[in-house]
Amino acid sequence: MIIVLDGPAGSGKSSTAKELANRLNIQFLDSGALYRALTYFWISSGKPNIRSFIKLLPEVDISSEYKNKQFYVTLNGEDITDTIRTQQVAENVSEIAAEPQIRAFVNNYMRNLVLDDVYIADGRDLGTAVFPDADLKFFMTASIEERAKRRLKEMKLSDPSITLEDVEENIRQRDLKDQSRASDPLKKAEDAIEIDTTGKTFDEQISEMITIIENRTKLN
Ligand code: DC
Repeated sequence: MIIVLDGPAGSGKSSTAKELANRLNIQFLDSGALYRALTYFWISSGKPNIRSFIKLLPEVDISSEYKNKQFYVTLNGEDITDTIRTQQVAENVSEIAAEPQIRAFVNNYMRNLVLDDVYIADGRDLGTAVFPDADLKFFMTASIEERAKRRLKEMKLSDPSITLEDVEENIRQRDLKDQSRASDPLKKAEDAIEIDTTGKTFDEQISEMITIIENRTKLN
């Protein structure tokens, strides 16, 4: 069984999906972290051109695990959980994620992973392209100011010099790229339930979603 939660950068998808996973005692899958992992791999391979990079994909061994409220990512044996949250990765990830062969690689990893357990996954195109038959689909939104404030907190941990303006600009650029790319753009699935989190407390939004999940799936 799979519940998906799509939405733009900083809309609160990851923290919401994690909290729902904890409360419902199911697995959490962070698809953005997988695109970030491949972006880190591209940077650490010396930023090759995209054609050459795609040829390196068979060398990539990614694994992920949700434990202790953290989504861990390992790339070729290296724990890159923290490294994938840096500004350098954030600045390049939309470009890497726009490549159809990279999307196919990540989608394949995710589809295999969810075969064995009950998952809630967050991303951009999960309800439209990756899991069109998901058991339940949410689409989260929030104002750009609110999203930037949330992201700033997260990014300050790895880069104390980052400002709110930097983060707002990065989010604006990423929204534009994520929504306008040719391959599986960020888009609300027709059958997704929209949750606007602007001005809502975290607890309010979680309660709203738990009620929906309980009413529409076999989980409770
Ligand atoms: O959720 P995030 O900010 O960690 O995602 C990082 C990037 O990955 C984001 O800019 C767009 C891309 N992404 C995507 O294209 N498709 C997904 N399903 C998830 C993320």
